[in-house]
Amino acid sequence: MVDIRRPDDMARITTPELAQAFIDEQIALVKEQVGDKKVLLALSGGVDSSVVAALLIKAIGDQLVCVHVNHGLLRKGEPEQVIEVFRNQMKANLIYVDAVDRFLDLLAGVTDPEQKRHIIGEEFINVFADEARKLDGIEFLAQGTIWPDILESEAGIKAHHNAGGLPEDLNFELVEPVRILFKDEVRVVGDQLGLPAGMVYRQPFPGPGLGVRCPGAITRDRLEAVRESDAILREEFAKNGLEGKVWQYFTVVPDFKSTGITDGKRSFEWPCIIRAINTTDVVECTVEHLDPALIDHLAQRITTEVEGVNRVLYDFTPKPPATVEWE
Ligand code: XMP
Repeated sequence: MVDIRRPDDMARITTPELAQAFIDEQIALVKEQVGDKKVLLALSGGVDSSVVAALLIKAIGDQLVCVHVNHGLLRKGEPEQVIEVFRNQMKANLIYVDAVDRFLDLLAGVTDPEQKRHIIGEEFINVFADEARKLDGIEFLAQGTIWPDILESEAGIKAHHNAGGLPEDLNFELVEPVRILFKDEVRVVGDQLGLPAGMVYRQPFPGPGLGVRCPGAITRDRLEAVRESDAILREEFAKNGLEGKVWQYFTVVPDFKSTGITDGKRSFEWPCIIRAINTTDVVECTVEHLDPALIDHLAQRITTEVEGVNRVLYDFTPKPPATVEWE
């Protein structure tokens, strides 16, 4: 599947009927491309790779081999959801790789944000390549490339996607069934394929995951504080009807401490910063102004439920001058 382009006159996929027509067409194309050969897919649990997985399961069943790498920087419950949805419900051929120690050991003591990103990206390829080499007879690599990825790489805005990084001995032909779709269309297709709404309409999540929300050198205890506070924030946003309405929301636990009082005793613990932003293009973002009662409730829950946190802050800075992520 080389250089397939979105036709200029292609109708935007906005309805279940249009999504189904697209799915039927892609199933036929994938079957024709792949025949009886095996296809490998890195399944992160993000929207694009999940939709590709669901589509390929329909097209080629267990000729698809999904690899889910847990690098330790995923949100609470994510690896479990990938296993539940794809292995248990969709009966996918899913290999789960627990690479948590491998990543966290490499990242120990690394403070530079770009070096952290580099280590996470490179190690991801190493782990994935290790798994690929253990498998026999794989000829294809499926990817969740979408149309904006192609446009942005052509415009020189971002280097496009994961395949570029694989070692030369893993010379797979690409299968990219959602390559000509915009993100909103991928979601409609995902809905039609029966994926859970929480997976299809999830907020953007960066590749380096919680690693960039644990600024400076990542430690396991501070990473856990990020993961737990993020889970509380997501739970409260869902309860308060903000899920799917606010573009991106997360917590950051920086590497400094302040004094507080815990159980009547002086404590010296981390603050937890809440960030919630809205945007259409992520080039400029505004801050979501939460109901003060919700902020109070979040502060109360996070300081009582998250180990090592004694203070909650809210980030009121738009982009620019700030970026979305803290590093
Ligand atoms: P910034 O912080 O640059 O973020 O304003 C803009 C959007 O990009 C996401 N982001 C990343 N996504 N790898 C990713 O896949 C990264 O290294 C990365 N850094 C930032 C960020 O979450 C926001 O949606």
